[in-house]
Amino acid sequence: MPEREREITLRFLAEPTDVNFGGKVHGGAVMKWIDQAGYACAVGWSGQYCVTVYVGGIRFHRPVLIGNMVEVSARLIHTGKTSLHVAVEVSAGDPKEGVYTKTTQCIIVFVAVDDGGTPVEVDGWDPESEQDVALEQYAKRLMELRKETEKEIGPHGVVL
Ligand SMILES: CC(C)(COP(=O)(O)OP(=O)(O)OC[C@H]1O[C@@H](n2cnc3c(N)ncnc32)[C@H](O)[C@@H]1OP(=O)(O)O)[C@@H](O)C(=O)NCCC(=O)NCCS
Repeated sequence: MPEREREITLRFLAEPTDVNFGGKVHGGAVMKWIDQAGYACAVGWSGQYCVTVYVGGIRFHRPVLIGNMVEVSARLIHTGKTSLHVAVEVSAGDPKEGVYTKTTQCIIVFVAVDDGGTPVEVDGWDPESEQDVALEQYAKRLMELRKETEKEIGPHGVVL
């Protein structure tokens, strides 16, 4: 049985096709990279196809520039019965300088599903280091906050 991957990093150059109207990388492109890295992390751990059920806490700290080297790191920080909570961080910088700065971060929750789209149980991950214990507590706290928010606005949000 191969060892499970709990963490992955994607590395690539931001391409001219990723540009927005302001000449920098489009926020949608960054969100796509985040989803791809999170997906690879969730699938790598669970060994199952996974779907995104929630994306939260996304914060764009700095822009990514065209031609920047981009690193998208995804790390499993909590498992539920069928869910996998993944923290994703994007860093970028000029490859000529080799200095990378955090540009974006967020949390994504994936659910492992079978061929019919029904949630299936995943192997649990147990934090060992102090940092991992803190990250798992953070994921659980976010889950509580989400429940409180959903209670406030209703499960399906505002109808426009
Ligand atoms: C993911 C999906 C199958 C879950 O179905 P469901 O009927 O909500 O299933 P459950 O209520 O059993 O919840 C399954 C898991 O999702 C978690 N979940 C549900 N709503 C959530 C939310 N708002 N935030 C975080 N986790 C959530 C539950 O906590 C549960 O995790 P657990 O088993 O670890 O406790 C269904 O919501 C779905 O198909 N969504 C669309 C997915 C999609 O198309 N994504 C975009 C493209 S990949």
